[in-house]
Order: sequence, then structure tokens, then C-alpha cells
Amino acid sequence: MNILELDTVSFDTETNELIIIDQTLLPGELQMMRLSDASAIREAIKRLCVRGAPAIGVAAALGLYACACRIQQNFEAEFLRCAELIETARPTAVNLSWAVKRMRTAFQKSSASEALRLEALRQEAFSIRDEDIDVCRRIGENGLALISNGDGILTHCNAGQLATVRYGTALAPIHVGVRRGMNFRVYTDETRPLLQGARLSAFEMVSAGVETTVLCDNMAASLMKTGAIQAVFVGCDRVARNGDTANKIGTLGVAIMAKHFGIPFYVCAPTSTIDLDCPNGESIEIENRADEEVTEMWYKERMAPEGVKVYNPAFDVTDADLITAFVTENGIVYPPYAF
Ligand code: MRU
Repeated sequence: MNILELDTVSFDTETNELIIIDQTLLPGELQMMRLSDASAIREAIKRLCVRGAPAIGVAAALGLYACACRIQQNFEAEFLRCAELIETARPTAVNLSWAVKRMRTAFQKSSASEALRLEALRQEAFSIRDEDIDVCRRIGENGLALISNGDGILTHCNAGQLATVRYGTALAPIHVGVRRGMNFRVYTDETRPLLQGARLSAFEMVSAGVETTVLCDNMAASLMKTGAIQAVFVGCDRVARNGDTANKIGTLGVAIMAKHFGIPFYVCAPTSTIDLDCPNGESIEIENRADEEVTEMWYKERMAPEGVKVYNPAFDVTDADLITAFVTENGIVYPPYAF
């Protein structure tokens, strides 16, 4: 089965379970996870079984509805406990708290009858899912106008279909273009330490039949210097009002290099990822992750000496002045940015 035929996040309406592709196993193994318990959903988000800002937002919404379907007593208190558990799984991607907030509002606005409350939650969760598909498709259309057939595109991390329900954000223009018979050369930074580029973006692009080249993160400058790259497309986890943008660690470096070589640097941003309560990059909370991700994971045995300290932030903030434009579902936004 081609991975692109599967929604990254879906829902079984017979069993009322959230279904996700377990991304920790890709590309070697394609396994689905079925979830309906708030602690398990929190854990799946923390472990990056489901990851990427839009995908965790949709998983939170559908997951919260799955939890609500199983509440036996103290409906309100139990719903709010599940919401809190899921919302705090990861701090940086605003889509997670945005989706949980929408579910909480739907719950609070609905009538006190449990059946009607459940129906309101179902409707809101499915709207969040459907909106994600529509928004990503529109980002793909808008982004496609910025590139030409045959272009070399560099991307960092995975902001493709595997980070959303379908299409992706940064890779959506490629998916839309390929369906129209266009060809691109896609270069995926491996994206240390969790290799979302080498494992996920590369897998997704190869599955779409795109010529794909993986490079280690520290090879991007020399690649750009060859002239092979016509544009950089990345996703985002939280965009501040002034345009400063948190995305996967390493994005800042790519943006600085792109500016040096005069290569346009585009951030594909669903408007749900723009946080109007956040004035600038300094106000964005950056998730720090376990040392072992750097020192042990992916190696047969621990590769760094015991006793070293490890620096492992999951995200960095790219200053607004390094961003050529934002590609949103509503169009392309050029500087000066004031959302
Ligand atoms: O830690 P991850 O894999 O969840 O990080 C994902 C990213 O940084 C993506 O670029 C971002 O969430 C945008 S996904 C459309």
C-alpha cells in the first residue's frame, strides 16, 4: 500500500477510536495505532508517533472526542481532565492548544445533555479534520505559483502529508504539482536528531514518485552553493505576530544560508499556526527533549562519551527578516509582517 493513500490521522466511527500512523516506525514498518485513552494519546504525541503541528492538532481533537465517547460519569470534570492531559503533551506547536481550545469551547457552548455535548464534540473534531485537509490543499495551490517545473526544492524536517491529514504544508506544492504532471528535485535535510527529513519526508517524496535526495544537515550550504536549489520550503509550529517563526531545530540555520545565497525561503503556514497572542519569537516556549535522542538513538551503541552535557531543543526560531514570504491558505504574505 502507498503511504499517500492513507490519512495520517483518522477516526473509526464504528469503534470511536483515533487512528494514527505510528511514525516512529517509518519508513521500515507501516503500523497503525488505535487510541481512545487520554494518557495514551498524550504519550503518542510526546513520543512523536503522531507529529507535525497540524497533525497533532487534529489528533488531539479526534482523540478527545474518542475519550469523551467513553466517559461513564462526571462527564464535565472527566472531559476537562482529558483535555488538559492532551493539551500539555508538547508546548511549541500552537495547533495543539488551538485544537483543544476549540473542543473545550464546543463543549462549553453545547447544551448540558450528554448526548448533545457528545454530538457537539463530534462535529467540532470532524470540522478541525476537514479544515486541515482543505487548508493544506489551498497552501499547495498557492505555493505552486512560486515554483517552476524542474526546480530544486530544499526542505527541512517533515512538513508533508505525514505532518497533516493529507497534502502537508511545505510539501503540499510538490504533491499538487506532481498530480498535474510536473517534476521537481526535492532535497530533504536529514534533520538531526530525530531524522524526520531522512525517514519521513524522503519516504513521502519517494512514494509520490519524486526525485529525492537526502543530505546531512551540515551539507546544505555546499549544496546551495552549487546552484541546485531554487527555493526552500519549510513548515512552522508557531508564528508570532511579528513573523518570527518556530520550526524544527535547524530551520534557522537553513534560513541564514538561504539568505546568504539569495535563495527564497518560504514558510508554509496554515493560519491556525499564527498565534496572535504571541508578540515575537522570544515569547515562544521551546520544547527540550531527552539527551538520548542525540547520544544514543539510531546508533548500535551509545556514540558520545558518558558524562557529556547535551543541547537538544526540538525547535528554533527563525527571525522574520530571514523569511521571503509566508504561504497561507488565503494567499502569500510578504514583509513587513504584522499579523
Ligand atoms: O517535532 P516534530 O516532528 O513534530 O516537528 C515538526 C516540525 O517542525 C514541522 O516542520 C512543523 O510542525 C510543521 S508541520 C506541517
